[in-house]
Amino acid sequence: PVSPTTRVIVCATDEIGEVAAGIVASVAPAGVLGVATGSSPLALYASLIRRRAEGLRTEGLRLFALDEYVGLAASDPCSYAAYVRSVIAGPLGIPADNVRVPSGSTAADGAAYERAIADAGGVDVQIVGIGRNGHIGFNEPGSDAETRTRVVELDESTRRANAEHFGGDLAQVPTHAMTQGVATILSARRIVLVAAGSAKAAALRAALTGPVTADIPASFLQRHPDVTVVADPDALRED
Ligand code: GLP
Repeated sequence: PVSPTTRVIVCATDEIGEVAAGIVASVAPAGVLGVATGSSPLALYASLIRRRAEGLRTEGLRLFALDEYVGLAASDPCSYAAYVRSVIAGPLGIPADNVRVPSGSTAADGAAYERAIADAGGVDVQIVGIGRNGHIGFNEPGSDAETRTRVVELDESTRRANAEHFGGDLAQVPTHAMTQGVATILSARRIVLVAAGSAKAAALRAALTGPVTADIPASFLQRHPDVTVVADPDALRED
């Protein structure tokens, strides 16, 4: 069974973005939004951009990204900083001063990011995707519930999954990332997880109905008081 604090909304693949955006839009006009990168939330951001064109006020939002590759400058088009700028902040009219993405590679850099989130009053709604190995952010298997923003080594499987964003060249995919920890993510007041496709089914099932374990970092979401999963039937397949 799914945790009583987790709502699961099943919808058609092409409705995920609209449904999730309906929840996320509740942070407007001036809330703190935790943003994920990757393919899964693209339709959600597109829906927010449409809603802005229809009058939703987004310019006052403050954004905190989940993670960033170590060694990629914010100017690198493959960086998550570039993604957040071009896919989210720019089209939503959010000024650069209101956008934070993890950076650097030291423990002090991680602590500074934690402080920035705390100074903003914490995250109102955190958007997350899920990795095929059950990661959230870049919290790979083995990441425990107490982890905070820190540098992690990426799993080979994660680097392979993300190689498509680096011209298909695994050697170009950084080996390390700075990521919010599991505890950081769980400190958000509300969490919205978006997932589509059968490639996510095993990880999602383990996260939602399996034991709460660092082997599947997304399973720690079962301990959060307010999680909404928006997923298509393939991602929620039982077999
Ligand atoms: C990436 C990111 C995560 C993302 C996940 C799934 O590696 N670090 O934040 O949620 O993996 O990505 P996608 O949505 O492209 O499948």
